[in-house]
Amino acid sequence: MAYKILILGGTTEARELAARLAGEPRYETKLSLAGRTARPAGQPVPVRVGGFGGAEGLAAHLAGKGIDLLVDATHPFAARISANAAEAARVTKVPLLALRRPGWERGKLDRWTEADTVAAAVVALGERTRRVLVTLGRQELAPLRAHPHHFYLIRSVDPVDPPLDLPDAQYLLARGPFGEDDERRLLIDHRIDAILSKNSGGAATYGKIAAARGLGIEVVMVRRPPKPVVPTVGTVDEAVAEIAHRAASGKNRGV
Ligand SMILES: NC(=O)c1ccc[n+]([C@@H]2O[C@H](COP(=O)([O-])OP(=O)(O)OC[C@H]3O[C@@H](n4cnc5c(N)ncnc54)[C@H](OP(=O)(O)O)[C@@H]3O)[C@@H](O)[C@H]2O)c1
Repeated sequence: MAYKILILGGTTEARELAARLAGEPRYETKLSLAGRTARPAGQPVPVRVGGFGGAEGLAAHLAGKGIDLLVDATHPFAARISANAAEAARVTKVPLLALRRPGWERGKLDRWTEADTVAAAVVALGERTRRVLVTLGRQELAPLRAHPHHFYLIRSVDPVDPPLDLPDAQYLLARGPFGEDDERRLLIDHRIDAILSKNSGGAATYGKIAAARGLGIEVVMVRRPPKPVVPTVGTVDEAVAEIAHRAASGKNRGV
């Protein structure tokens, strides 16, 4: 019988992991998406979309579908689903593996100001009018409204609809990955002097951080929220190896 894997996704890594598992007949892999993105990128395995109804709903899903392994490959800032995954795994005794990309580290030449929340990050931009590239994701933009004195260039995958009530904002629709050269061009063309970013980690959106370093531009960086302590790997390669090991050793329950 195939080893049933449910990947909680919404990240590049989740898609890459699904692609690596897709060709293996010993696995039956499904990818779960929250449904926030209107047209998600094509996925290499069957997909289910939408919330489960909290930890209880997820537990019922795991038990009902006979899942052998739950992989939490959600975004580092998606705190609730990871807490639900840990709780559902605990209750059902379905093993859980987290795939969490490491955060970006500040280098000597980086000009970072760190903040714990988006609201605190916007305050950290200060009183003086700045020209800010905003790469927070469209669900996180509400705190900008309390600081209308900046120019905001707001980049998102889906349109910000309705647009924010801000006197000087411009919207840019784009889906990563974003290379350093293109990011430098964007920063120069729009005369950006600050970037609002989450510490998402990963290569796909690091281009802006590298470009900002080269241009001496400040990055106001939102720190990651805490996530539950569970067995964790940092890369897709490590996840593939760990899954192969677990499937081979029949380690199906109680890890
Ligand atoms: N937060 C970010 O910065 C960010 C950035 C890029 C991508 N994403 C992706 O976007 C999704 C939503 O992020 P979020 O910050 O809104 O999450 P969240 O606050 O942790 O989760 C909110 C609720 O959304 C549902 N949900 C989240 N991820 C799901 C998944 N993979 N499959 C099914 N349901 C899911 C769950 O609903 P129920 O309780 O009803 O099950 C969860 O309680 C995540 O999958 C994440 O990987 C997030």
